[in-house]
Amino acid sequence: MSRIVVTGCIPEVALEKLRAEHDVDAWTGPESISRGELLTRVAGADAVVSLLTERIDAELLDTAGPQLEAVANVAVGYDNIDVPACTDRGVIATNTPGVLTEATADITFGLILSATRRLSEGERLIRSGQDWKWGMFFLLGSGLQGKTLGIIGMGSIGKATARRAKAFGMRIVYQSRSTIASEVVAELGARRVELDELLATSDIVSLHCPYGPATHHLIGAEQLTAMKNSAYLINTARGPIINEAALVAALQEGHIAGAGLDVFENEPNVHFGLLELDNVVLVPHLGSATIETRTAMALLAADNALAVLSKQRPLTPIG
Ligand code: GLV
Repeated sequence: MSRIVVTGCIPEVALEKLRAEHDVDAWTGPESISRGELLTRVAGADAVVSLLTERIDAELLDTAGPQLEAVANVAVGYDNIDVPACTDRGVIATNTPGVLTEATADITFGLILSATRRLSEGERLIRSGQDWKWGMFFLLGSGLQGKTLGIIGMGSIGKATARRAKAFGMRIVYQSRSTIASEVVAELGARRVELDELLATSDIVSLHCPYGPATHHLIGAEQLTAMKNSAYLINTARGPIINEAALVAALQEGHIAGAGLDVFENEPNVHFGLLELDNVVLVPHLGSATIETRTAMALLAADNALAVLSKQRPLTPIG
């Protein structure tokens, strides 16, 4: 029997799966586990099932000890994990791609619709108790039919977003590090372009790339200025891909029309400038937050940890 540390609350069905074979120490506090508590608990662990809120770095891996075999992240993004530090120590790191693709593409479209059709603004107005009535020019937004969606990062979530965009009658351009199968590109009617062209021609720019040194502040003042004044920026990937201060300035100065954000540069803190703007929709990192998806993510992470502990290849290793 091995010892598995789970760094936060995950669905019971996944915990049961782990407990059936191993000794499980799961943090169940209402707040995130503190760094000190986490370091105390990981000492002597054989596997860590981690949430994206916990930093898995060299210090933690060394505190865990040389018996540590697996770090199974319950997230597709793994910028919280120092993967080279895991590799150096022979620790296998895994993530949960695939199972959250549709939920994240759904919330991307929720943000696109909320931002372009001013849904949050309308709801705030009703809740404020202000007088209102139907009017020809009341809270006019912009439609999606015939508009261009620019997707940065054409992985599975980018493609799932593109499929939705196609159903809304949008044109799709994209930028991607990897080559996308020609039949997929043809099915979506998508066109690969350079970032400059994507920014200059898109009515909506949606971020779906991983976060790392190469994408830190990928969207800053220069890129925001390059976008159309009528365009919207959507982020369901990771907050620091956008320079948030530059975004606030661009929204204030009218360089772009609006934004929809599920993730933030200094999460869970939100730039105070964003809170004062009406043309930005803010949701608290809900991309994968459905019962079905979170259950599937936790089960996949559990299966990954169990596979490594039984010397099998995990289903979804990182890299
Ligand atoms: C959520 O943000 C994830 O990376 O799974």
